[in-house]
Amino acid sequence: MVASELLTVRLRLRPFATDLSDLAALHEIQADPEHMRYYPHPFSVDESREWIKKWLAHEKQHGFSLWAIEDRETAEFLGNCGPAIQLVDGEQHVELGWSVTPRRVRQGIASEAAAAWRDQCLGPMGLDHVISLVRPENAPSRGVAERIGMAPWKETTFGSQGWRHIVYRVDAHATALGGQRSVSMSMMSAQSSPRSPASTAVRREHHRYHMDRSPLLDRR
Ligand SMILES: CC(C)(COP(=O)(O)OP(=O)(O)OC[C@H]1O[C@@H](n2cnc3c(N)ncnc32)[C@H](O)[C@@H]1OP(=O)(O)O)[C@@H](O)C(=O)NCCC(=O)NCCS
Repeated sequence: MVASELLTVRLRLRPFATDLSDLAALHEIQADPEHMRYYPHPFSVDESREWIKKWLAHEKQHGFSLWAIEDRETAEFLGNCGPAIQLVDGEQHVELGWSVTPRRVRQGIASEAAAAWRDQCLGPMGLDHVISLVRPENAPSRGVAERIGMAPWKETTFGSQGWRHIVYRVDAHATALGGQRSVSMSMMSAQSSPRSPASTAVRREHHRYHMDRSPLLDRR
């Protein structure tokens, strides 16, 4: 497991535990029909287990993935957020995804976590841009994309059902992070806010992103 985490004002973002000990907390969220209303169906426990394994494998292969969100004070499992490679119209992009437990929605948690990952992707990870795939009906998710400075780029069909999605996008050159792109991964920086890209509280303790393995890295 990669020894790393991202800290924001209220949150700790960390990789999923390789012993699958996050399964119960994750599955409680992913089995909820209301939470899953923009997905094809609520997950069975087997689907939640495979979901964690899929993102652990992505982490191993690419050095980044969807991570667990925890409350920094209580260590409560709040959901997940992070970057993943997705194929959109035949091209690979890094997509930020997010999901927050129904118990804690509308408290700015998804925006806070997504802003931290946006800053990582467009800063230290050196990505040119990140996207987010959101169904037009998913007003809460569109709100998160917009709160972290993304704008609709185009529409596409995506996923097993071929549903229409808006492709939200934010580019490094459009943020204050464009100039930070050679910053070392071991840096420690200040506090995070969804609205101020360059102010993420980030503590990286020894993490090397395997950027050279991925064809989507059109670094400048
Ligand atoms: C989408 C989701 C992650 C948002 O999490 P959250 O922590 O509640 O989001 P935030 O509190 O950061 O909200 C950000 C903005 O989104 C919008 N928003 C959030 N919930 C909303 C709702 N129920 N209705 C309308 N807009 C909403 C608002 O503009 C909000 O900003 P504001 O509170 O300042 O007005 C959460 O609703 C969720 O997990 N949904 C189910 C899973 C899902 O659909 N994931 C995304 C797949 S693309």
